[in-house]
Amino acid sequence: MRYIAPSILSADFLHLEKDIELVNEYADIIHVDVMDGSFVPNISFGFPVAEAVARIARKPMDVHLMIVHPEKYVARFVKAGASMVSFHLEAVEAEGNDPAAILDEIRSLGARPGLVINPDIEVSRLFPYLDKVDYVLLMSVFAGFGGQKFIEETYERVRTLRAEAERRGLDLLIEVDGGVSVQNADALAEAGVNILVAGSAVFKAVDPASVIAGMRGQSM
Ligand code: DX5
Ligand code: ZN
Repeated sequence: MRYIAPSILSADFLHLEKDIELVNEYADIIHVDVMDGSFVPNISFGFPVAEAVARIARKPMDVHLMIVHPEKYVARFVKAGASMVSFHLEAVEAEGNDPAAILDEIRSLGARPGLVINPDIEVSRLFPYLDKVDYVLLMSVFAGFGGQKFIEETYERVRTLRAEAERRGLDLLIEVDGGVSVQNADALAEAGVNILVAGSAVFKAVDPASVIAGMRGQSM
């Protein structure tokens, strides 16, 4: 199954409600990027914006935390309406904290837990946690900004992760984020991706609905 998750990072913040309405019917998931200016060199938005998005989104809200110390904030994002919460493995490991405990907490709060890694982190570093996650987000650009160029090595990383999940009989969802477009959606799905996140490809388009259809491999 191929799910499409528009990232509101590329939406028009002055007209966020209008932009979410443009994709509400066509998207499967609404992707919300939280950046702290510390783990990544950019600041996006926090709880009030996530809460506002949750009020009008008719699809599950997927919160991608690009922050240090995610364990301090996961409960508040679930309260804000997140159905899926992911955080960066490399952030938590660098802090000496246990990713498994944070994944368990997200699940106990009633949301689906996910782990994210940047393109320079070995996929095998995820393997100890695969039993604890519902999904893994493989970044296909370095986290921090929308509109970057897709990193081609992502395909191999997806295949490595899919092979490990299959070897262990795990029903793992693989999400890819960064530089995703109609052009690479089919190849990503064939490599084993289930959730395609797209910011600029969707929200900078004249017709976001037809881009989403295109990413599903359909035409409108
Ligand atoms: C980047 C974010 C992405 C971003 C993707 O750090 O995690 O979700 O919105 O933007 P595009 O699709 O424009 O590369
Ligand atoms: Zn993201």
